[in-house]
Order: sequence, then structure tokens, then C-alpha cells
Amino acid sequence: MKILVIGSGGREHALCHALKRTSARPVELYCAPGSDAINALARTVPIAATDVSALASFAETEQITLTIVGGEAPLAAGVADEFERRGLAVAGPRAEAARLESSKAFAKEFMARHKIPTARFRVAASAGEAREILAGGEFGEADAPVVVKADGLAAGKGVVVAATLAEAVEAVNELMEGGRVGSEAARRVVIEEALTGPEASLLFWTDGTDYALMPPARDHKRIGEGDTGANTGGMGAITSPAVLDAEAEARAVREVVEPTLAGLRADGLEFRGVIFVGLMLTEDGARVLEYNVRFGDPEAQAILVRLESDLGEIFEAVAHKKLGGARVRWSEDASACVVLAARGYPERPETGARIEGLDELSLAASPVEIFHAGTRRAGDGSWETAGGRVLGVTARAPTLDRALAHCYEAAGRVHWDGMQYRRDIGRFGRH
Ligand code: AMP
Ligand code: GLY
Repeated sequence: MKILVIGSGGREHALCHALKRTSARPVELYCAPGSDAINALARTVPIAATDVSALASFAETEQITLTIVGGEAPLAAGVADEFERRGLAVAGPRAEAARLESSKAFAKEFMARHKIPTARFRVAASAGEAREILAGGEFGEADAPVVVKADGLAAGKGVVVAATLAEAVEAVNELMEGGRVGSEAARRVVIEEALTGPEASLLFWTDGTDYALMPPARDHKRIGEGDTGANTGGMGAITSPAVLDAEAEARAVREVVEPTLAGLRADGLEFRGVIFVGLMLTEDGARVLEYNVRFGDPEAQAILVRLESDLGEIFEAVAHKKLGGARVRWSEDASACVVLAARGYPERPETGARIEGLDELSLAASPVEIFHAGTRRAGDGSWETAGGRVLGVTARAPTLDRALAHCYEAAGRVHWDGMQYRRDIGRFGRH
């Protein structure tokens, strides 16, 4: 069995780790482009994650059995389309279905069409139209909170939760006229009502017909403790029954997961891969904030350390439309991932700092797994920082508190100049 993973971040490191750990059969792993840390688990291949035709040619030449796509950019670029065209097995949706993530307007219209609960919204095709909608009062008057979202992929920078109408207008101006995100991403904006409540991420594999749920997770998107400061890709994640209890999960399955799959089928969108539903748990029930068409990062790290079934087999079943028979087993533990980030993240992360303590920690008998998001080996063999999010310190344990204690104990043994992390992962947003 030869598996190719596409990507290079903490999520892909966790995917490679789980593929090796859970496999009953010998598995030969490849990762493109991978990283120095991933290189310890997989043969890294110097092809960019969005170089669709080079990836497919590599898979053909190497006779890769299955390809797993980590992130949204290769999916939006059509990597699954190209693999399918060449008869190569791939777990990940085609570009058309990946629009659930790559276009927020498409996702909102999909939800409206299929009666999937979400915040009330309007789509604007120009800044003028967006300002008119805001001035029209349908999302409340001057001091009402309202949310403005760039339509396209914007790496966490495209969503503004504005406290007032004036701030919302400013957000429209910045997004559509001020170059805050790429011009392609901000050709349209979604304006939507602001909701309140704790958030939960519900992820599942699907082969288009059947689905298998993962343990509900919670991300911590803001850089600062107490959920303050700039939005990031995610500063930590947990899984625990406290995120979404069994009853709320069953309701979300009925009201969101199943209608989403029925909607995809009704629209003729075949989906083979992972769907990630970002939920806000309001007093009126769960509302969908967003869809992602792949594992979250760092949700994947926290989720996958609990997996007991063979991950390669699950993805194979997804790619070959055989998920129906699969039973996915999970450890009963809770889990946590604490992200250690570089100074300046998310705006201008510093790179090139020497990381101390990492190899010692990996050698020690520790319940912690360290997934590398942005590191590289320096010339002398030491580790240095190479990105904004640097490491994801991850552990599972019978209780969330113990999992967190393991993570923080390990985080305390790693150091570099400018290292920052949140001390309140798993403690904030618990209601
Ligand atoms: P999204 O990329 O759409 O998930 O938005 C990023 C973050 O913005 C979410 O995780 C929420 O914290 C926040 N957000 C998005 N939509 C809303 C909304 N309608 N009301 C309140 N907060 C929101
Ligand atoms: N952690 C959020 C995401 O991967 O989109």
C-alpha cells in the first residue's frame, strides 16, 4: 500500500503519524511537499501542493494506491478532478464541491436551498451594494453587530465580526476596496446576522452516500487569551464530550449532516472526503457558520490521536465509495492540541529562531505527540522556526484537564526566542 499525502503543515504531520500508527499492513508513505519533520515518517517529494498535474504524474509513475489531500488550496485548484481524470484513487472533493469552502456565497446559497440552519444573510457583488444593504437596516441599526465575510479563500483574514454598522462599512471598504484580502477573494461579500454561543466543529468522512462521524472538536481561533485579538488559523483545539453532548450531536446530525449530504446529492455534487462543519450553538439550536472540505488544522491533531481504526482503510473506503461497512473506533479519552507560535504571528511571524528542547522531549517517554507546523532543520541539525504556527503539542488522556496538563507540561520544556501560546486552551468557550 502506497499512500501520498498532499501538504506540509501540522495537519499533514498528524495525518502521516496516524496513518503509520493505525495501519495493520505495511504502508509506504509519501508526502508532497512535506517538511523536515514529516520526512521522518514519509518520503517527502518536492512538488508544491497546488501543482496539480505534477502531483498526478508522480502518483502515476510511483503507482500510488491512494492520495489524501490535506488542505483546501489543492482541492480548490482541482487536484481531485485531475486524479480522477487519470483514474487515480483520491480522497478529497472535486473543485466544484470544494466551493462549499472556497466560496462563502456558494455555501450560504447551498444552505438556504437545502434548509440547513445558518445565519440570515445577503450576498453583495459590489462595495456599493454591500453598503446599501447595511444602510437598509435589515441587519439592525447603528450599534447592532453584523458580520462581513469575503467570498473566497482568505486564510482566516476574510471574516469581520463588526460591533457597529460603521465598523461593518469599514470592513466592506477594506475587504472590497482596500486590498485586505486578494481581489479574487473579495469580489463578493456575504453580510450576515451575528450569532452568539459557543462554537463546535463537527467533522465526518463521507463517500457521498454514507458518513462516519469524528469526535466533536473546538478550535480557538483568536491569538489572545480570553478569545481576544486577531483571528488566526487556530491556536489550539480540544475534543471532549463537553464540546457537544450526545443529544446535541444527534440533533446536529439530523439537522445539518444528513441534509448537507442530501443537498450535495440533489445538486449532483459527488463528495468523497472530509466535511468539516463549523457550528455555533445558539439558544435556538446549532447554526452552520461555515463548511470546510478537509480536516481542520489543529483540529486534525486533536482528533486523530484518538483514532483506533486504520486511517488508511477509512480513506480507501472513502475514495472507493465503500464507507458503508466501515466502523470507526475512537478512544474514550479527551484530547488537546496547544499551538506554539512565533512572535509576530499572525501578522508578521518571525522565522529562523533556534528551537531548544525539542529532540529531548521527543526522546523522553512522554504521552505527548509534537506535530510540526512550521519548522526546519538548520545546517547543524538543530530545529528552527519556519512559520507562524510552529508546533502543535498534542495529548490524549481520560479527562480533558489531564490532556491539557500533559500539553502544557511539554510546552514548558520547549523554548525559542519569541515563542507564544495561549494558556487557556480548553478553558475558554466552555459553557
Ligand atoms: P468562518 O470562517 O465563517 O467560520 O468565520 C470565522 C469565525 O468568525 C467563526 O469561527 C466565528 O467565530 C466568527 N463568525 C462567523 N460567522 C459568524 C456569525 N454569523 N456570528 C458570529 N460570529 C461569526
Ligand atoms: N482550524 C480551522 C481550520 O482549519 O480552518
